[in-house]
Amino acid sequence: MNGGRKELIRMLAIGLTAAAVGTALTLWMNWFPHTQGASTAADKIDTLYDWLLIASVPVFVLVMTVAIYSVVRFRVRPGQELEDGVSIHGNTRLEVIWVTIPFLIVTALAVYAAVVLAQVEKKQPNPLRVNVIGQQFTWHFEYLNAGGKKFTSDSLYLPKDRPVEFQIHAKDVLHSFWVPQFRLKQDAVPGITTHMRLTPNRAGSYQVVCAELCGLGHATMRSPAVVVDKARFQKWVQSQAGGGAAKPAASAGGTAGGGTGDQAALGKTIFTGEGGCSACHTLADAGANGKVGPSLDQVGKKGAGYIEDSIKTPDKVIAKGFPAGTMPKDFSTRLGDKKIQALVQYLLQAGGGK
Ligand code: CUA
Repeated sequence: MNGGRKELIRMLAIGLTAAAVGTALTLWMNWFPHTQGASTAADKIDTLYDWLLIASVPVFVLVMTVAIYSVVRFRVRPGQELEDGVSIHGNTRLEVIWVTIPFLIVTALAVYAAVVLAQVEKKQPNPLRVNVIGQQFTWHFEYLNAGGKKFTSDSLYLPKDRPVEFQIHAKDVLHSFWVPQFRLKQDAVPGITTHMRLTPNRAGSYQVVCAELCGLGHATMRSPAVVVDKARFQKWVQSQAGGGAAKPAASAGGTAGGGTGDQAALGKTIFTGEGGCSACHTLADAGANGKVGPSLDQVGKKGAGYIEDSIKTPDKVIAKGFPAGTMPKDFSTRLGDKKIQALVQYLLQAGGGK
């Protein structure tokens, strides 16, 4: 009897010490790829994560220590093979305790997590509204109410301390919209719109990362995410909405039969923007250095017919060293003939053909 109690105290002492050390260790570790968050949600989520560790790690370490201790300490020794211990028929008090305590812990964590989720997803006044469009293998960001005019950008620019509402779409397959520093992630699903709300609270340069395996170029599906103060954001909006990217696309309708120069200029904006070509291909003129598909620096020499075929039916001729089936086959329907012709003109020019 006395020996048993001593044994129990020793086992518990070792177990509790191990649990304390284990908890301290896990709280000291950096669990996230980017230690410092950059949204108001990040602070709440990091705190929630710490509480999950505090609630689960000590239980896990204590139980494992007691189990390992028992296996080592009370193992059968030579000569004891035929002996048996006392027969035990359950212990009601113990069983009530070990059901009640985990139930209380899990319930408390569930309520806490639900409260945090409600806070994170709460509607905020006057949000900036941004459509996120994922496609193999790039992101586009459509600003709906940033400067009086709708415009699209390849980079995600956000003003610090203003709530943002994202509507997330996918054009082809499943993607997942993720900026690690915001601590929020949402799937982009073809055919439906998903949502995310957040308020960036730390200026800096981050990355939008695709977090759903979506094809060979998945790992390259990254775009800049930049959080700036309000004044700099306004300046950026003006540079976007005013001229630059929006203009050639707007004038495209009027210059359907226009010069090849105009067409090539439009083609360039499609190459780096809407078409998403620069995510996978290298082309010096466009500042693109994708490695998923073949380099296009010399493609102009192959002629307009070859280029057009390669965009519309990518698997007709496969470039050496690249697997078939990588390039999406829906560019004809996605871009339409006018834009594809513009791309062809641009590639003839930028690919050294003329
Ligand atoms: Cu898109 Cu992975």
